[in-house]
Amino acid sequence: MSDSKITNQNTRWHEPTIKREHREKLNEHKGKILWFTGLSGAGKSTLAHALEEQLHDYGARTYVLDGDNVRKGLCKDLGFSEQDRVENIRRIGEMSRIMMDAGLIVMTAFISPFRRDRRIVRELVETGDFIEIFCDAPLDVCESRDVKGLYEKARAGEIPEFTGISSPYETPENPELIVESGNSTVEECVDEIINFLKEKEIT
Ligand code: ADX
Repeated sequence: MSDSKITNQNTRWHEPTIKREHREKLNEHKGKILWFTGLSGAGKSTLAHALEEQLHDYGARTYVLDGDNVRKGLCKDLGFSEQDRVENIRRIGEMSRIMMDAGLIVMTAFISPFRRDRRIVRELVETGDFIEIFCDAPLDVCESRDVKGLYEKARAGEIPEFTGISSPYETPENPELIVESGNSTVEECVDEIINFLKEKEIT
């Protein structure tokens, strides 16, 4: 850690000539971060990908950063301890900022259980660029779905520090949008998000 600090002292920011605004002009839409948060099984990935299909059809430049996928590459050195989750979200926050700067509408699907970490990402970017979407599906619904069979394993003590069971999830206090992904269909949730984005003139 201290080594990397020393290295940073000898680096200098190179101001690019082609900036976000130029890319946004080419794309004909703004870059944004749509940050999906919620329990495992709440529908974050499903909604992010379904939303991406619609935005793509509208001609928007998009990308989904998905927890399970990112943990196979960029974050494959990280587990699920509090410290590792913090680092996971820090990396994704930085990555999202870069991708937004590249002019993309970035959708992130991570449990991101800690308020503080979500706030840190929010504060990395300009006001209005970070849109927190809380996928509000109660634990009993997520557990009954148990799409990946992980809740059963967590209850059996086979997976330590499982969010909602043996590791906390801190509900967003003031998200831009709440979708009731526990008792609405994917289409209903996506429509709600699209309407919100239209209202805010993002798409
Ligand atoms: S986060 O807490 O760091 O934001 P992330 O979204 O990347 O988590 O990964 C969550 C996914 O990893 C879950 O959807 C689930 O498939 C899997 N997973 C494996 N172990 C755990 C665990 N202990 N707690 C939560 N999710 C886990």
